[in-house]
Formats: sequence, structure tokens, C-alpha cells
Amino acid sequence: MIFRDDLLDQKVVLITGGGTGLGLAMAEAFGQLGASLALVGRRQEVLEQAQHELESRGIPTFIQSLDIRDYEAVDRTMDAIENHYGRLDVLVNNAAGNFISPTERLSPRAVDAVVNIVLHGTLYCTLAAGKRWIAQGTGGTVLNIVTTYAWTGSGYVVPSAVAKAGVLAMTRSLAVEWAPHHIRQVAIAPGPFPTEGAWSRLMPTPDMAQAAVERVPMKRVGRPEELTTLAAYLISDAADYINGEVVTIDGGEWLQGAGQFNALDRVTPEQWDMVRTMMPKKS
Ligand code: HXC
Repeated sequence: MIFRDDLLDQKVVLITGGGTGLGLAMAEAFGQLGASLALVGRRQEVLEQAQHELESRGIPTFIQSLDIRDYEAVDRTMDAIENHYGRLDVLVNNAAGNFISPTERLSPRAVDAVVNIVLHGTLYCTLAAGKRWIAQGTGGTVLNIVTTYAWTGSGYVVPSAVAKAGVLAMTRSLAVEWAPHHIRQVAIAPGPFPTEGAWSRLMPTPDMAQAAVERVPMKRVGRPEELTTLAAYLISDAADYINGEVVTIDGGEWLQGAGQFNALDRVTPEQWDMVRTMMPKKS
């Protein structure tokens, strides 16, 4: 960690989907920097395992099983966190649902399964936290985990793309509306960071996983500590003037697809020599 180890001292951080994957990686990093944690997710046994690991390293960890699609349950969970720690300072909207599929094959329930987690669940958590922070006059910070196809769109993950675009719109909208209440909104758009939950649904074959790496100009996937370092900075007081911003951390992946001539990286030096001879000479 590049930070002083008290960077997040005194902060109570709620992470949705905090028992596994990048949620757990953020929990570990924030805990090492002095944060007290509240982890929620749908599977109690996964949360208990995370709590055991974190508390064995001296990191205070409150857990509660929660389906963020249920607003009443979200609200009750925030009550429980406030009863436990006395307050909540940061909400990390990390929980997501996604899978690849041709869009025409989706049932309405499949659409709902993703959109209700990603868009409604994120909005419910943000709303419940914001209502509290505004009533208490304390302020707070919301970190939203989005994706680069929140602004480009992407085939084969359309419910996720639609929902993540909504989360990005929420980030930018509330950055302005809630700034007078000292509530900050920030977002991270990660590229490929292999985790069991995402990889098993999005890159189910070795070929697809390899193709995902090849798409990245840096020819590698992200390391969890690269994402957690960025997240720790964004939720810290050092980033107090960053509001409504989305930071991409993808090795240049989305720009590789966007730049009109970027596929020319396949042209060999010999082919470039030939191309040069084919160019019109000065007349
Ligand atoms: C087509 C599918 C499907 C699939 C489920 N469904 N998987 N349809 N292809 N692969 C359909 C089901 O048939 C059902 O519809 C409906 O979806 C609901 O399915 P359930 O399993 O009952 O839903 P639920 O238990 O709520 O599970 C939600 C889920 C699941 C999203 C479907 O995958 C999940 O819990 N995921 C959580 C973890 C996760 O997805 N992590 C990856 C996030 S990665 P019918 O009509 O048959 O009843 C991410 C990264 C983005 O977001 C950026 C990447 C670069």
C-alpha cells in the first residue's frame, strides 16, 4: 500500500457484494488502512468466511445477509450498521449481476434479474444512505463500480449495459444535487479484473479469457491491488474535491476498440515499408 496506514481511520465503510471478489479485495485494503467494515451479500456463509478472515487480522467487520433488490431490507441493514458502529461514512456499490447472452434469448425475468440488482439495488442503497446523511447533516461518500460499456454500450450484456449506464447517470446527477449536503459521488470503471463471479459468467472458456487479455493494449489483466489502491484514494478525504467523476482502470482496453486506426498494431515493419511506397508522392 502506498498510503499512510491511517488513511481511512475512523471511517465506517459499507460494501455491497463485499464477501467475494473485488468487494472482498476492497474490504481487505480498506481494513488495512484503518476502516471499519460492513459487508453485505446474499450468501451468509460467504460473509461469515470473509468476517473470519478480516477479524483474524484485527479488522472490525460487521456482516449481514441482504438482497439489495429489497428496499425495506436495505433500510433495516443500514439501521443495524448504525446501531453497531454509531454511523456510516462510505457506501461502496459493488454488488452486480451479469451474464453473456444474445439479447433476443433473454426472458423478461432474466432482464429483471440483472437490472434489479445493478440499477435498482444500487439506487436503493444510495437512496437509503443519502436520506440518512441528509437527515443527520453528516455527509458521506458513495463509490459506484461501473464499467466502460456504461458509456459505449455493449452487445451480449445488454441488461448490464443499460443498468450500468443508469448508475453512471445517478453518479453524475447526485454529484450535483447532493453536493450541498456534503455527499460525494465517485465511480470506477474497471476493465478485466479476473474474479470467479465475473469470469465464470463472462469468460466461460479459456479462449474467451485469452481474447479478453489480447484486447487490452497492455496485454494483461488488472491486479486487484491496482483497483483497491484507486478505490481507497477515492473514498479518502484526500479526494474530497473529486465529485461526479468516473475513473477508468482498464489498461486502455476501451480506447483500443474506439480508435479508428488502432487495429494497425497488427501491421508488420515490412508491411509499413510497403505502405510507405504506396503513399502519393509530393506533386
Ligand atoms: C440466459 C439466464 C442466465 C443465462 C440466468 N438467466 N442466467 N438467462 N442466460 N446465463 C435467467 C434465468 O433463466 C431466469 O429466467 C432469470 O435469469 C433469473 O435467474 P435466477 O437464477 O433465478 O436469478 P437470480 O438467482 O436472481 O440470479 C441473478 C443472476 C446471477 C444475475 C442471474 O447470475 C447472479 O446472482 N449473479 C451475481 C454475481 C454476478 O453476476 N457477478 C458478475 C458481475 S460482473 P427465467 O425466465 O428462466 O425464469 C459485472 C462486470 C461488468 O457486472 C463489467 C465487465 C467488464
